[in-house]
Amino acid sequence: MKRSTLAAALAAATVMAVAPAAQAQQKLKVGLMLPYSGTYAALGTAIENGFKLYVAEQGGKIGGREIEYFKVDDESEPAKATDNVGKLIKRDNVDVIVGTVHSGVAMAMAKAAKDSGTLLIIPNAGAVAVTGPMCAENIFRSSFSNWQPGYAMGEVAAKKGMKKAVTITWKYAAGDESVGGFKEAFEKGGGQVVKELSLPFPNVEFQPLLTEIASIRPDVVYTFFAGGGAVKFVKDYAAAGLKKTIPLYGAGFITDGTLEAQGADADGLLTTLHYGDGLDNPKDKAFRAAYEKAYKVAPDVYAVQGYDAAQMLAIGLNATHGDVAKKAEFAKAVTAARIDSPRGAFTIGASHNPVQDMYLRQVIGKENKVIGIAAKALADPGAGCRM
Ligand code: BEZ
Repeated sequence: MKRSTLAAALAAATVMAVAPAAQAQQKLKVGLMLPYSGTYAALGTAIENGFKLYVAEQGGKIGGREIEYFKVDDESEPAKATDNVGKLIKRDNVDVIVGTVHSGVAMAMAKAAKDSGTLLIIPNAGAVAVTGPMCAENIFRSSFSNWQPGYAMGEVAAKKGMKKAVTITWKYAAGDESVGGFKEAFEKGGGQVVKELSLPFPNVEFQPLLTEIASIRPDVVYTFFAGGGAVKFVKDYAAAGLKKTIPLYGAGFITDGTLEAQGADADGLLTTLHYGDGLDNPKDKAFRAAYEKAYKVAPDVYAVQGYDAAQMLAIGLNATHGDVAKKAEFAKAVTAARIDSPRGAFTIGASHNPVQDMYLRQVIGKENKVIGIAAKALADPGAGCRM
């Protein structure tokens, strides 16, 4: 071998030998793409808080690497989502993206993650497609699919003997899929959805739709709203006099993180969700105490999902010694894990969506009290997912 060729080969070998160690020293670039403005702003903050709480509990490191954060306010605006996620992938060159809340934004993020190969952990948005036809080795969800709480509540309503339901929601993937889950289980159980009402996201002009509900007089109303819109809907439903005459059931987002603002208008409401108050598990007790100490507010479901997004990242990166490029090893570790969550232990299914209990909750005072399990270890069907 010529002297110059030998020198080049030695240099290359040296780089290969030090690369893993050098990478372990480099900070892990985490892109937080969340809503920090608009009707879902409080949800974004709770997710970030939960994520950072878990990181702090690990001494500030995940997979042996310190963290550097990059933040984008996605405004829950699907039209800006491709540009926004591009800032994290191309400009900031992040190792992992954690986001977001809104299903329409999340679908654009999933496409970008699939195209670029960037690791994506979704800490809320339940868009069914993301863990269905758009599923990928590098895309995970720490939250739920929109179908899950809806399906659980459809079973509850049918078992209670309700026959005629009206649904009301925002017209976008989350609302449509939540209502779809409810309708599937409710009609399987002998009920009928007689009217599906909706308005564009994030409108809150509910009055004409409430008047229509009053004239139809169903046995039950099923709803999906969240954040600021959920606060107004519950107050408007009560102010219209409907709370006294037609039971309002919902996916739990309708009363999660919102009870202070909803006050007595939320009292007694029944909802289904994968988290709630009064769960008797040590992990939840420790999580709540730590969260309240750190942020001076009680945690909600969004905080739990942020915390668990960080746990999933840690499980994957511990298996790969901090290397985000080892996608198959990362996925193998996360899908094999039993995740010790404040919601109760859960697993990640083949399409990378949580398989988890759906609790039945009732608003009592300022709490979403867990009063039973509506659906045990409920898995989203993951239709159309081919890894
Ligand atoms: C969604 O867009 O998927 C979503 C937003 C808020 C709460 C739950 C789901």
